[in-house]
Amino acid sequence: MSDQAEKLRKMASSIRQQIEVEMINKPSRQTRVIVISSGKGGVGKSTLALNMSLVLGAYKQKVILMDADMGLANIDIMLGIVPEYTIQHVLQGRKRLKDIIIDGPSGVKIIPGGSGINELANLNDNELSRLIQELGKVDGEYDYMIIDTGAGISRNVVSFLLAADDVIIVTTAEPTSLTDAYGLVKTIIRQSFDGKIYLIVNKVTNSSEGIMVAEKFRIACNRFLETDLIPIGNVVDEPAVREGIMRQEAFTQMFPQSTATKNIVSIIDRLMTGYDQQNSNPGRPGGVKNFFRKLSSIFRDKDVGVG
Ligand SMILES: Nc1ncnc2c1ncn2[C@@H]1O[C@H](COP(=O)(O)OP(=O)(O)O)[C@@H](O)[C@H]1O
Ligand SMILES: [Mg+2]
Repeated sequence: MSDQAEKLRKMASSIRQQIEVEMINKPSRQTRVIVISSGKGGVGKSTLALNMSLVLGAYKQKVILMDADMGLANIDIMLGIVPEYTIQHVLQGRKRLKDIIIDGPSGVKIIPGGSGINELANLNDNELSRLIQELGKVDGEYDYMIIDTGAGISRNVVSFLLAADDVIIVTTAEPTSLTDAYGLVKTIIRQSFDGKIYLIVNKVTNSSEGIMVAEKFRIACNRFLETDLIPIGNVVDEPAVREGIMRQEAFTQMFPQSTATKNIVSIIDRLMTGYDQQNSNPGRPGGVKNFFRKLSSIFRDKDVGVG
């Protein structure tokens, strides 16, 4: 009898040990990769990417924000930071990823992109696997990776969108911006994007304008592209936003009571709970390593994008 009890005790302790080892080795988080883009430039992608990241940070989410606009990298400028190194140094093997990451407000970490992003499409196998390995290290550390891209349907931008878990398309209410946003959605749908597509209407006069524009856009995507796009909110055109840019400080921090800040907070509430009419669950995050693996195979596929 006591022999039996001893056996059980040993078994229980070995199981406990096994669980402990697994808990140590398992990444505590799987990072949700969200790519922000638009058809037309100047619609507010970088402004929203930064401020959304900061609100997520204020909600105690661990966030890494990557500046992947190879033309106009400007997240750093928006915060008045001069980065010493960019992703370019990592690609060239001169720095580790952890050496180039900048500390932003609210605990948000920033990966300065610069012109290095342009080189992503032209990496050889060794460089790519080094990058994927480096980026894979951040997988267990962050809840969200927010990637700010350039505008349009260039191969680079489209590749980033196709590799993402979630895509956020930013537009204004202007017909030109809406037409270009529609073109971008069409491009990624044609290339079998299988994640969620969210829509933010920025610089609206009031929220009813935003809701109306988003609904029209949603219906057009549903009818002609057979896609269920998810309107996730709108942001008013407000002097506070421009003032933040001028003073190189995020408006959500400078003006926490502003309508634009409240708009961002409700967008983040919806994003975190996976708000959407068809499905109340957030999508399954694929992780950073998986994102860059997908990205590199997309880069090799010559048919991506039109540019
Ligand atoms: N909601 C807003 N209200 C007022 N100005 C805005 C708003 N969103 C963006 N802007 C302004 O629009 C300009 C372009 O924004 P930016 O984020 O750089 O666009 P993008 O990254 O899409 O090119 C900036 O000067 C910014 O201050
Ligand atoms: Mg930008």
